[in-house]
Amino acid sequence: MRGQLRQTAIYLQGVSGKRPRVPVDRHELAEQARLAMRPEAYAYIAAGAGGEEALRANEDAFSAWRIVPRVLRDVSERNMSIELFGRRLETPFLLSPIGVLEMAHRDADRAVARAAAAEEVPMIFSSQASTPMEKIAAEMGSAPRWFQLYWSTSNELVESFVARAEASGCEAIAVTLDTTILGWRTRDLDLAYLPFLRGRGIAQYTSDPVFRRLVEESLGEPSANPTPRPSLAALRTLVQVLRNYPERALRGLSSGMARGAVERFVQIYSRPSLTWDDLPFLRERTRLPILLKGVLHPDDARRAAAEGIDGVIVSNHGGRQIDGVIPTLEALPGIARAAGDMPVLLDSGLRGGADAFRALALGASAVCIGRPYVYGLAIAGEEGVSEVIRNFAAELDLTMGLAGCRSVDEITPEALAPSGR
Ligand code: FNR
Repeated sequence: MRGQLRQTAIYLQGVSGKRPRVPVDRHELAEQARLAMRPEAYAYIAAGAGGEEALRANEDAFSAWRIVPRVLRDVSERNMSIELFGRRLETPFLLSPIGVLEMAHRDADRAVARAAAAEEVPMIFSSQASTPMEKIAAEMGSAPRWFQLYWSTSNELVESFVARAEASGCEAIAVTLDTTILGWRTRDLDLAYLPFLRGRGIAQYTSDPVFRRLVEESLGEPSANPTPRPSLAALRTLVQVLRNYPERALRGLSSGMARGAVERFVQIYSRPSLTWDDLPFLRERTRLPILLKGVLHPDDARRAAAEGIDGVIVSNHGGRQIDGVIPTLEALPGIARAAGDMPVLLDSGLRGGADAFRALALGASAVCIGRPYVYGLAIAGEEGVSEVIRNFAAELDLTMGLAGCRSVDEITPEALAPSGR
């Protein structure tokens, strides 16, 4: 079985003096990633909003539930597979959409895509990826992938992103609703660092024909932010933006084009005015399942089901948006009840297989791994991402066996008790 095989492999390597390059321990994993990254990159990835209460509460919410094992149930054969939107998955894991992966490793989304495909875990491509979705998809063969959408102020761009996602073989669209405005991110503010303004994490945009046309059109307009004499740092940013343009021809273009791209991106990437009335626009443009990411209230889940949405992702963006927000595991049971038959996924604060077990017991259909895979990426690229996925799967497999569950269906609320804190 998966868990035992993984354990044995690690212990056997230990006999010849080899320890895992990617730490199994969650704190050591983050620490090694911190050492592998530039300070502003680690801050961008690790930080939460405000005083980071939400960041801590997400993880603590898992400790509020204790696993109550059942014995003498013949757990020699175990199966972690689930079915999601008609596709059988070997494990109940997906990879959360995470932007600007180039900050963790130069192979960025490509490395994650290869690992996801190898480990048979769907990858959710980010709207803020460092690599155009077509190039990420090209690394994956026929392995499953989804697309995460930030709803732009330009519906034409939304349409273009969705069409490209379909053409790239994405099997679902997850619309992220908790980031129509950027949260108050204390660490990033103190470093005065936002990657997008440096031309990072905007590859889906700069590779998009609609976006490029919009940039060209806006070049005729007066700049919203004129800087007559650019500083050295600003010039470095322009170089970065130009580098991120996918076609050589564009690289030869003026710094005006590059600055135009960043300015246009800032104006266009998100629409705070979005309402339920906008959703039919998307429904009419894709046959793919649509999920809403960032749902934390049962009434929103109920409304989503009533509006013909196909699934929700219970997420608070890893505590990066609202400090003091409800932890996702606390929100999950109410949402699972409200969602009826609609699949309910969860992320935020998940740090291992025992956390996954608790989320599945409280009604999640599947769970998404977030920061830990980025830490694996920072430490060891593609192999690092694979290692993290393998560790999550191994721990879930062992937790299931030790708790007396042979399949995901057998992981029910009866397997948990509140901690009594
Ligand atoms: C994110 N997340 C995110 N979500 C999204 O829908 N689109 C995105 O582009 C990003 N980008 C992003 C960057 C970074 C650096 C982080 C840490 C997170 C949120 C992500 O999908 C997920 O909800 C959280 O990462 C889950 O929390 P944990 O498990 O990482 O704590």
